[in-house]
Formats: sequence, structure tokens, C-alpha cells
Amino acid sequence: MQSLAEKLNQLTPEELIKLTSGADFWRSTAIAKAHIPSFRMSDGPNGLRYQAGEGDALGINDSVVSTCFPTASAIACTWDPELVAEMGRAIGLEARSLKVDMVLGPGINIKRNPLCGRNFEYFSEDPYLAGMIGAAWIKGLQSQGVAACLKHFAGNNQENDRLLSDSLIDATALHELYLEAFRIAVQTAQPEGVMCSYNKVNGTYASDNAYLLTDVLRHQWQFKGTVVTDWGALNNKVASLNAGTDLEMPSSHNMFDQQALAALKAGQLKPKALFRAAGNVARLAETPRPEFKGNRQDLLAKNGQLAQKIEEHAAVLLKNDDQILPLQPTQKLLVVGQMAAETRYQGAGSSHINPPAHTSILKGLTKAGIAYNYQQGYDFTNETAGQLTAAAVTAAKKAQTVVVVAGLPENDESEGFDRQNMSLPVNQNVLIDRLAAVNPNIIVLLVAGAPVELPWLAKVKGLLNLYLGGQYVGDAAAAILTGKVNPSGKLAESYPAAYQDVPSAEIYDQNPRSVGYAESVYVGYRYYEKAKQPVAFPFGFGLSYTTFKLSDTKLSRDHIQAGQSVDVTVNVTNTGHWDGAEVVQVYVGNSPKRALKPLKELKGFQKVFLKAGETKSVTITLPTHAFSEWNDEQQRWQLPTADKFVIVGISSAETLPPLVVQTVGKPLADNPQLPTWYITPIGKPSLVDFTKMSGLTVQSPIIPRPGQYTRLNTPRELGTHSLIVRKVAEIVKKNMTKGISDPNSPEAKFMETIVMDTPLIRLAQQSSGKLSLTLVDKLVAVANRHYFKAVFGS
Ligand code: BGC
Repeated sequence: MQSLAEKLNQLTPEELIKLTSGADFWRSTAIAKAHIPSFRMSDGPNGLRYQAGEGDALGINDSVVSTCFPTASAIACTWDPELVAEMGRAIGLEARSLKVDMVLGPGINIKRNPLCGRNFEYFSEDPYLAGMIGAAWIKGLQSQGVAACLKHFAGNNQENDRLLSDSLIDATALHELYLEAFRIAVQTAQPEGVMCSYNKVNGTYASDNAYLLTDVLRHQWQFKGTVVTDWGALNNKVASLNAGTDLEMPSSHNMFDQQALAALKAGQLKPKALFRAAGNVARLAETPRPEFKGNRQDLLAKNGQLAQKIEEHAAVLLKNDDQILPLQPTQKLLVVGQMAAETRYQGAGSSHINPPAHTSILKGLTKAGIAYNYQQGYDFTNETAGQLTAAAVTAAKKAQTVVVVAGLPENDESEGFDRQNMSLPVNQNVLIDRLAAVNPNIIVLLVAGAPVELPWLAKVKGLLNLYLGGQYVGDAAAAILTGKVNPSGKLAESYPAAYQDVPSAEIYDQNPRSVGYAESVYVGYRYYEKAKQPVAFPFGFGLSYTTFKLSDTKLSRDHIQAGQSVDVTVNVTNTGHWDGAEVVQVYVGNSPKRALKPLKELKGFQKVFLKAGETKSVTITLPTHAFSEWNDEQQRWQLPTADKFVIVGISSAETLPPLVVQTVGKPLADNPQLPTWYITPIGKPSLVDFTKMSGLTVQSPIIPRPGQYTRLNTPRELGTHSLIVRKVAEIVKKNMTKGISDPNSPEAKFMETIVMDTPLIRLAQQSSGKLSLTLVDKLVAVANRHYFKAVFGS
């Protein structure tokens, strides 16, 4: 048997280059002569979107039946890595049952702003929680012999203009917040793949970013796997290989091979980089993957049960006044809301799954034997539906308890574009207000992938947040409502009271192409706490049908040096009458006077199950890293000399008094130039202060005019001045949305952004040869009003 090195040595430069580009939409390239096979990839993070055949021509929603688990924003609320690992194992088995070698997930980008259209697919605003949940998912999946591809590396925190945006992030926020989740997942779980994102980070496309891909990922974190581009994220073939990208996906049908070959000859493409990339692709392809020997139908049935169990552990009980929940069996119950009958259970885009079954909330209640009356109350079109509302209000007057199922309609949340605001559709808010005016016993079930404003919060007694709960969300909701399951989910993100309270509210999406992360490390609870900004619900919060108490916190030491760790021991008691689970959360805090340092940051947690009346002692170990800070000059984490605090709680806001730990390391240096906002972040950050703090400058939007267009512009941009380009784009769009019946559906909107907002060169790359570079250049020339040159070639 030849070694991999021997195989690579017998390949020509052309063949090596070929290996670094996909064969089609989902497969890497095989080289028969050297017995290098190809490997098969498939989305995604909450179940498989397996498209039979070679391409994506089937459309985003057509895929082989697979289990639809709750989406990431729900999964993270379990705060239960073992359960998440079980989900990873389940997806791994389904992957093998379809001969998939690599699953494109998990996505662990930080939720910087609640409007990011893809937040449902991400875990948390906190890097420790996101990293640990992501690591558990990867370990579970890879334990089945299937490769994970951790995504989207890095700084991909918005959907609008994601192919052209430049995320400008200062070094502290980059390492302590945005990269930290990836670091934890890479070092804890060693994913076989990492997917680089579409956007630029500090001026350089992620695919060309040597700092991120080589210095940080491979050198600092010792990543040994394969870097795959997001689909169409390759910016420059030669630069990307030199920077650390290994595999370009999907296939560009060798569009850049000649360029790479010429660069190799000219010494611009480093032979070592080409060998590394080809080697990493070939190694992944050669890795033996176990054959699935079970019965796929049995597996789907079993995984469906697991999907329900995860949602039961994920749903977050946010309010339960007068213990309105669980429901009493004799209650006269009214259920209201179109979302109760047509319950959303997943988001839109590349993670969309075609499940074998689905239960709506109504179906779940019926299956659980709960008697209820139903009123639609509103419809998803957001028309102020006078009659529907009036009928629900009349029915509510006669009911003892009203369960309103509210949430974001499908069109509001998707990969490819951001939400426009944080509110629920107006007709739902109006309805809840009117129901609360006639009935004091209102329970709201919330169905959305991300936080929404809750203007009626004070008027309702119960609030259960289901997020997007997977195929059996209805069964899980019924189990919690009836008390068969005691809720134990905890928020993995803060729930701001209003969008205006979000630290990035004034700058998010102002200029999506040049994005100053002006709030730096002050994201989520890191901001709300230091800014003293009240929230609707804090990070880590979630109620139970029972109550818990923490007591007797002890630390194994009160000072540490590099290499040492601190054991935090605390007693947790179930003080109520139900068996249930609590999450012990350990934060490390900083003095309020410290610049760019939040008051507290999550560094450890454990979910503990306790019988009614039971007490358990929990020990959580904080390694040196939990007290360390990023030193950008030295490019490493370092323990400072400082007073730090260990804070134990059951949410970020409900904690025991802090305990001091002195850390002995590098003396702290003052930076008198630093704008004071970065010490005390009251109000909103300014871009002027951001530039002073980081040296990074946000660019003004550039609106290209005829004469300035290049291959890097999008059809939308070219189309503003060219009827011909508009017409061509229309034809392409029509073609791509052929199978989609509803033009307002999220799939149609997603496809629209793919066609209209992708730079022409990248559209060509992904067009399976249908859009040639020659045609691209003609379109550019036409838009530049160089008609003759375009048509006659001179
Ligand atoms: C998404 C990725 C996904 C890929 C393949 C891209 O548009 O950003 O998350 O894995 O498509 O479907």
C-alpha cells in the first residue's frame, strides 16, 4: 500500500490542483490513478439535508427524508453537552445510512445582534457555551466515524450582504469573543473540517485570510484537519491556497486551475501550500468510514424520539405567575393562533430538512388527550384580521385559560437575509393584548428562532419559549404543558426588552459591507450588565416547576498562577415539590474599572438533576485559561495579575456573592488613550471611539457607477444601470426558483439574494459552467456602457 505522501508525489501539478476543488456540488474530486477516492458532504447542523444526485438543482427544500432536530438556538438551551452529543451520534448514523462522509455543521458563530437572519442556526451570544455545545455535537458525530465541518470561520454574524461584508473586529473581541467558540470546539473535539466563511475579516476574505487559517487555526490551535470554503466563498484561488484553504466548494469546474498552474510556475503559489491542501483533501477522502448496517426506518423512528426529548430539555419557561403551568386537567382551555395549527419547527435555507413526520401544537395536545377549543386568532399575512381576533376574544371570555401560540412566520427568519425588526407581527401583539383584557389567565407559547419584543409581557401569566423545536415540537410542548416533563431549558442568549437596547442597534446593517463591531466585547450580557441596561430576561435564565437553591460555595484556592486551576464546589438543593434539573453556572468576573472586560463571563456549567428535596454537591474546575486574557502583542492568552471574581449562579443575574481569586501573572498595563466607553459602556458605542480604540476604520458605502463595475459587483448593482443585466438576472432567478410556488416564501427570498447579491465571479464559479467568465465580462462591459467592446470584442 502506498502512503499518502507517495501518492501525492506521483501526481502532476494539474492533478494536485484538481484535488483542491470539488467535483460537483457535494463531492470532492477523486484521482483514480492514485486510488484517491472522493468524499461526500451534506448539510447540516440539525439534521441531514441530503440531496440525491449531483447538484443543488432540486432547490433548497427537496432532500431525502431525515430527522429534523430542534435548531441550534433551542439545542443550546439544554445546557446539556451529553444530550447534544447524543444528537451528534444520531445525525452521524443517519449520515452513514446515506453514505455521507462529512456533515456541514455545527455553526457556532456568536449572536452579535438578534436580527441576524441565521441566529436560529447558531448557539449563543456566549463563546464558552457555544464552544462547549459545539464540541459535544462534533464529538458525538465523529464518534460514528463521520467528519464534522465546523462553520462559519469567522466573523460571520449577519446575513445581509454576507458575501461582501467586511467584519471589522478589534483584537480583544476577535479572540476573547468571536474566535473563542471556535478555539474551544477545535481544541476540545478536533473536527475533521472547518468551513471558512463568505465575509472578510479586517479587510481580508476569510478564504484568503492567512492570519485566521494558518497563524490562528493551524499554528495556535494545532488544527490538523481540512479547511473547506463555504459554498462559493472562494475569493482568490492562489491567495486562498497560500493562506490555508484546502478545498474549494462547490466545484467551479476548474475555472481557476490554469491561473493556479501559472502561479505555481511563477513561484506565486507555494508548492508547500499546494501539497498541504491536496494532502488534507486526500487524507479526508481516504479516511475509512463505517458502513451503516441497521435499518434506516428504525433509525428515523428512534431519532424522532430523541428530537422530541431534546426539545423537552430545551424549551425555556420564562414566566409562570400563580403557577399557571402545568395545566390542570379539568381546565376549560382555549388555544389560539395559526401557529398552533401550523407550528414552525425549523428555519429556512441550507439547513432546511424534510422530516418523516411533524406534530403541530394542536396535534400534540390532542395526542396528549387534552381537551381544548381552538380559534385561529390571526393569520401569517399580518393583516389586521378583525373577524379572527373578535372570534378569539369572544371565545376567550368563556374559557378558564387561554394558550396563545405566537411567533415569527416563516418569511421572517432565514439564511440569506436579516430580520427587519425585532417585533412579532402586529396582528399577534394586538390579539394578545385584547385576549389579556378579557381573560386574566393567558399563557403564551413562543415559536421563533431568535428573541422578539414582548410588549404584552406584564399582562400574561405564563410564557414558554419553544424556539424552533424540531419535528415533534407539538409533542414536547404538550408534555411540558401537562407537567409530564418539568422544563429545564435556560436561555443561551439575553432577551433584550427592546431592540433599541441592543448595543449594536444603531450600527447593525447601516452599511452591511463595512461593519464596525464598535461594541467590541460588550455583546449580550457582557454589555447589559456593565451598562446597567435592564433586559426582559437575562442570559442563563429559565424557570422550572420546582425551585432550587445554591449554597456553600467553596474554592480550592483563592489565588492562582499559570498552570493551576481552581475547583469551585457548591451545593444545589431542589427546594420544591417536583423532580427537576437546574444548571449551575460559574462566571469569572472583573473589576468594573477594567477596560474591555465585562463584569462577568461564563467559564463553566453543569446541569444537575435532583429529586424533590434532594441536595447534591457540584464541582466545576476552572483552568488557568478561565482567568486568562488575550495578549495581542504576544499572540497568546496570558494570566494577568489582577483581582478576579468567581461568581456562581442559576442565571447571569441571579448569583451568589462573588468570591475573590487573585491571579498572578503579567502586570496590567494602562491605556490612557482608550475612550471611556470601553471602560464603562453606558449608552451606545460610537464609530469614532471604535476607530480610536481599534485602529480600524469603517468605510463609507460605495455605489458603483457605469465605468466602475468589475466582476466583483453583484447583478443587483450592475442592474441599477443596465436593463440587459436586469433581464439576464430575471431569467436566472426564474430558472432557480422554478419549483417554488410561493414567491414570498423564504426559499424564494433566499434564492433572490443568492442571484442578486452574489458577485458575478462567484455566481460563475457556482454555475456548473452555465455562466462563463467570458459572459461575466460581457455583462460587466455592458453595465459599464462599453457596448461595442462587449458585443464586438474590441
Ligand atoms: C451555507 C453553509 C452551507 C452551504 C452548503 C452555504 O450557503 O452558508 O452553511 O453548509 O451553503 O449548503
